[in-house]
Amino acid sequence: MKRKYNYEIMDLIKARWSPRAISEEKLSREEIMPLIEAARFAPSCFNEQPWRFIIADEEESLKKMRNVLMPGNQIWANKAPVLLLIVAKKNFTYNNEENFWHMFDAGTAWGFLTLEAQKRGLVTHAMGGFDMDKARSSFNISEDYEIITVVAIGKYGDKETLDPKLRSKEHPDIRMETEALILK
Ligand SMILES: Cc1cc2nc3c(=O)[nH]c(=O)nc-3n(C[C@H](O)[C@H](O)[C@H](O)COP(=O)(O)O)c2cc1C
Repeated sequence: MKRKYNYEIMDLIKARWSPRAISEEKLSREEIMPLIEAARFAPSCFNEQPWRFIIADEEESLKKMRNVLMPGNQIWANKAPVLLLIVAKKNFTYNNEENFWHMFDAGTAWGFLTLEAQKRGLVTHAMGGFDMDKARSSFNISEDYEIITVVAIGKYGDKETLDPKLRSKEHPDIRMETEALILK
């Protein structure tokens, strides 16, 4: 099924989706850092900017990051040249009190990052399917941070290289109706 838009919206939003056929072609830090820059300018409660990123883009860190993914994600994400771990600082820096909005704000940052990637001809695919405890210990992440998502990033690859079961899912997903989002 094709996506249907009920209102005219930004082309970047319409173009973004979550492919699994990601090319193995390496990305340089010059190509990766503008995505972090886009995330940097997300709004956040008290301008706390709770989002933090661990970039795996060379063999040793990629191996570690692949190792935390669930097998169903490894099967396609292992090829991605960049695996980005997104975490969020739990407490406000100014008073060390709990920041209820840390995950909300990190989500906004990821939204900015994915649209910047889209603009630059890169694809992104977020994954909740990974072992958070393993990620925490593998990358030595303190309990001050909530571990949220791994994102596969790269150039779009060749759909034909995907496992046949995944190939049939290789398309932008549809959405529920706009009106269904409004609680009455
Ligand atoms: C937080 C989060 C976790 C996700 N986890 C996975 C995952 O573990 N494996 C996977 O293949 N896709 C995962 N996805 C991708 C979603 O399935 C996808 O975004 C959704 O179906 C909408 O499709 P679209 O991004 O192509 O529009 C995740 C997306 C998000 C935002």
